[in-house]
Amino acid sequence: MSTVTNLVYLLAAVLFIFGLKNLSSPRTARRGNALAMLGMLLAIVITLFDKQILDFTHIIIGLIIGGAIGVYAAKTVQMTAMPQMVALFNGFGGAASALVAYAEYVRLSGPPGMDVLITMVLSVLIGTVTFFGSLVAFAKLQGIIRGAPIVLPLHHVVNGFLLLVALGLGGLFVFDAPQGAFLLAVVVASTMLGILSVIPIGGADMPVVISLLNSYSGMAAAATGFVLSNSVLIVSGALVGASGLILTEIMCKAMNRSLANVLFGAVGTDGGGAVAGERRPVTEYTPEDAAMVLESAQSIIIVPGYGLAVAQAQHVLHELATILMERGATVRYAIHPVAGRMPGHMNVLLAEANVPYDMIYDMDQINEDFQNTDVALVVGANDVINPAARYKKDSPLYGMPILNVDKARSVMIIKRSLSPGFAGVDNELFYDPKTMMVFGDAKKVLTELVHELKG
Ligand code: TAP
Repeated sequence: MSTVTNLVYLLAAVLFIFGLKNLSSPRTARRGNALAMLGMLLAIVITLFDKQILDFTHIIIGLIIGGAIGVYAAKTVQMTAMPQMVALFNGFGGAASALVAYAEYVRLSGPPGMDVLITMVLSVLIGTVTFFGSLVAFAKLQGIIRGAPIVLPLHHVVNGFLLLVALGLGGLFVFDAPQGAFLLAVVVASTMLGILSVIPIGGADMPVVISLLNSYSGMAAAATGFVLSNSVLIVSGALVGASGLILTEIMCKAMNRSLANVLFGAVGTDGGGAVAGERRPVTEYTPEDAAMVLESAQSIIIVPGYGLAVAQAQHVLHELATILMERGATVRYAIHPVAGRMPGHMNVLLAEANVPYDMIYDMDQINEDFQNTDVALVVGANDVINPAARYKKDSPLYGMPILNVDKARSVMIIKRSLSPGFAGVDNELFYDPKTMMVFGDAKKVLTELVHELKG
């Protein structure tokens, strides 16, 4: 490999690291994406020129077909369907690593070193598990298969056995002269392992699983990097592997769950909040009444949740916030780490509506301020504000840190009904005398509020 190639790889690796660093805050996330994209472009271009494996006709055809599919998917995907798209793309990443490692086996000319054989097995094993696990995650989120956990007899024992079989076959491939049949057998065992390890996990936990599979796809890529002796693939794979693991850990913490509980607990239903809420009297406000309350509020904290994404009401929400600020109120947004259905879901929505970053606060930054706030305006959020998480030991939400909405002087909740959220549990806050329920689709209600306040 030439010095120029190595230098460009080094530059690409630095860009990936700065990209990730910038991705850690919504304020710098766009720049982070741009830096990482530039790094990837450099790495791809220099590899294509350096290796000259294929003629450019094949490469250009591949680029056009892959690029067209990517652009189409990114442009047409609904915000609420983003997790399953990420699942699919992760899966393809894993499959690509496994295929490249397998292709290297097919291309072998002389006897390879043991390090190459070991990483070949790891790449094929992890890449295949990632691909098939991600397909199951996609199918669960897309409603193609049941979201509820599907647990077979002795499920985890079978999975442990499959892992041992895959490793054993990989060992035979490495130590007993590399034979393609062993590597193919690793593919078969890993396929079953990928499917069977995701199928017993509830649809509710899929975003955590997707983050973990994302990490696996990085590890598979790093292993392929060793097979190819390609430093930039090793570095980028390791970065994806590590950041995926960190994100998994953050999500588990925000839900007060352990990773073992997510992977082996078979927790949850279809993940859709199917249980009907308890019917008790609530204080119901019309949008006209609600507008009057907001008009007289000096301080407002807006808490967005999954319903905001469903209603696609982020633009009109920001319009409302702007009107309230123009009238002299202090308006801020409070973001719970697992509001919505994927990491950063609310940040992405608010960024789409060009909400200034200095109006957006993380839970830890703002939680103490609810007690001095006139109105906590909840838009399509439910579990992340449910006080049962603090005291109700038998609640699936118990222990999850929540936004202290109930501490505000008054609470206004916009949602369509008393139906529960993702965790499928009732929310006491709806029945609190200081809570005003404004029923309706978030976009419709917010549009009416804007109309009232403008009028
Ligand atoms: P949820 O608890 O799921 O509540 C969302 C609420 O939005 C529902 O109660 C629903 O009530 C309402 N809604 C739906 N469509 C609406 C519309 N068009 N207009 C107005 N309201 C609408 O959401 P949350 O508070 O954001 O909590 C997130 C949940 O997802 C947590 O339990 C979290 O653990 C889980 N989760 C999150 C993640 C990540 S990474 N974010 C990953 C896995 C799981 P109605 O039907 O009555 O309208």
